[in-house]
Amino acid sequence: MANIDTSMEYLPKEEVMAIWNANLKLTDEDFLAMDDDEFRARVRERCHHTLEIQVYHAQHRDQKLSSTQADYAKRLLRLWVEKGLSTDLPEYKYVSFLIETADKLAAGEHVDLSSYKPTPVTKEMEDTFFTILKERRSVREFTDEEVPDEIIDKVLDAGLWAAHGCNVQSIKYVVVREKNEPGLFRGSDVPGGPVHLVICQDMRCYRANSFTPRRNQLLDAGAAGQNIVLAAHAAGLEGVWLTFPNEAFCDRLREKFKLPEYIRLVTYVDVGYGAQTPHPPLRWDVKDTILGRF
Ligand SMILES: Cc1cc2nc3c(=O)[nH]c(=O)nc-3n(C[C@H](O)[C@H](O)[C@H](O)COP(=O)(O)O)c2cc1C
Repeated sequence: MANIDTSMEYLPKEEVMAIWNANLKLTDEDFLAMDDDEFRARVRERCHHTLEIQVYHAQHRDQKLSSTQADYAKRLLRLWVEKGLSTDLPEYKYVSFLIETADKLAAGEHVDLSSYKPTPVTKEMEDTFFTILKERRSVREFTDEEVPDEIIDKVLDAGLWAAHGCNVQSIKYVVVREKNEPGLFRGSDVPGGPVHLVICQDMRCYRANSFTPRRNQLLDAGAAGQNIVLAAHAAGLEGVWLTFPNEAFCDRLREKFKLPEYIRLVTYVDVGYGAQTPHPPLRWDVKDTILGRF
């Protein structure tokens, strides 16, 4: 198995193929010996690529699914239990649903997904959404009011609900209150907020799919970041997305929090109760951003 590479470049083709071939050869013993976090990422990715996509494709067209379609997922859930992982964990529940649905489709049954229909979006909900979207600002001045942990967790949860390439769900966080680590985040171009939300990635997750382009990995973190700044505003906080000024800054955090080598620090967002209401930096007119309509 190739080492975990935390840089931002594309993986060389030989390395992609090495990971691909190693993945094909994974035995039950390999899975049983694997770290639980990496195993869970592999379950998410494999079931996404070998079952989820096929199930929804067949369901939509009322097509019969091959009776072996769910075999790999079934093997992974068997290993899940053998590893002693809880069957209450989200992957186990979701994959069980996919397997059950695949088996119905393989038997030629019609599958009704109407109970999963999202809440209908009313005009009021739509307006609220766009108000939050457009009134979210980068706020760089904060009051001294303490942000409760529950609100921070709600905001971080929003980050986890962002779209994520191949559903590997690599996002991890470090939450740092400035008052507990004064000056640790010095070096940014702004003083920063009372709570620093560091968005990291568990790079072991990407071992599951060697073809994930690095750009997707960074987009995974970006999608989480965007959900986080929007959710912070929706939850009554304000914040600003910030930039690690250099590697030394990241190394300082890595050392302080004893982060293992497989954790990549990507970006961070500062949040708190806002003490300023900046004029919105106005945006392009959408018609001037469309390079073509074909
Ligand atoms: C990836 C990223 C990095 C950013 N880094 C910084 C930063 O280092 N310092 C800062 O003051 N603002 C930073 N910002 C905030 C932008 O300056 C801000 O989003 C932009 O000026 C538009 O303003 P608005 O967010 O209020 O709409 C960053 C935003 C993004 C998305």
